[in-house]
Order: sequence, then structure tokens, then C-alpha cells
Amino acid sequence: MLLNMHDYNHQNGTHRELFRITDVEFHQFIDNGLNSHAFYDMPTAPYTLVEKLREPDLFLLPTAIRAHLENHFPSLIIFHGEMPLGKAAQCHFFVPETENLTRTYILLFGQARHPAFKIFGKTYLKFGKVVIDQDADILGKIYPNTPQKIKLNNEVGMDWVRRNFQSLPQVVEPNLSK
Ligand SMILES: [Fe+2]
Repeated sequence: MLLNMHDYNHQNGTHRELFRITDVEFHQFIDNGLNSHAFYDMPTAPYTLVEKLREPDLFLLPTAIRAHLENHFPSLIIFHGEMPLGKAAQCHFFVPETENLTRTYILLFGQARHPAFKIFGKTYLKFGKVVIDQDADILGKIYPNTPQKIKLNNEVGMDWVRRNFQSLPQVVEPNLSK
């Protein structure tokens, strides 16, 4: 699950439905040991006006998602996002319950730039639930525990997870900031 959460390549596949993410433009990774920051942009394919009128929630989706992930290994990721109506900090908590079961919670903080943001707060939380459901669905299908043969770009987050998973609670080299 942590590999998935820090896999910056999976968004345009796993989260294509609803968000229509077409690409991930990775910019920066700051490695502070058990804490890190990732910055990337996700352009999306826009919905038509007709689609939006049929499903008004779609008006709330940004056309380009600018992501800043603040990571605290192993149990917290804060997604700092800019939406059309305001700013949001979506906190994802991971609580292991058994060997094969992890419970996840979302705590959403919003700063309204427009009064409508308050009314639509629940919808933003709903978008978070969609992300979780899509990730949960994909977990059984990818990330097999077999040695990796091909190295993709944007994998610095997964390297960060692997390194910390092996050494926790120690903080070890290498530093993955680029
Ligand atoms: Fe995901």
C-alpha cells in the first residue's frame, strides 16, 4: 500500500476514471529521512459542458491538479491541493490492523477562496473516497513482491518507501533528493 501511495506513475492509470489525469509532470523530491516532500503537476482531459451539467460535481474538479505531497513515514501523507474554490489539505492516515489489513482515514482541511467551498466540502471528501477506492482496487493487481527488473522514472517516492521500510526506525543513506 505504501508503494502505491508513493508511486507517482500510477495516477494517470489508476485514477484516470473521474479525474481524467493524462500525464504526471514530476518536478521535485525533497528527502528529509522519515519525512519527505514531492511536487508534481497532473494535467487532465477536460469534461464537456454537457457532461458537467449532467453531473455538477464535475465543476469542482480542477483542470490541472497541482500536487504537493508532504510525507511522514509510514503513516501519514498530506496532499496539499489547489482547487477552483479554495485550498485544501487532505490528510491520509494509515493504520495497520492485521498482517493483511490496513485501515485508512481521511481528514480534510479547507480554506475557502469562495463561499461555495463550504457548501461543497463534502464533495471534496467524496473525491478523496473515490481515490481510496481506486487505490484499494488496484492493490491486489500490481506491486507483486517480486524483484523489480525495469526501472521507471518518477520512482523516487517508491525508493524512499523501500529504504525506510528496511531501516525503520533508523534513518539511512542514500539521500534521494535530486
Ligand atoms: Fe492512488
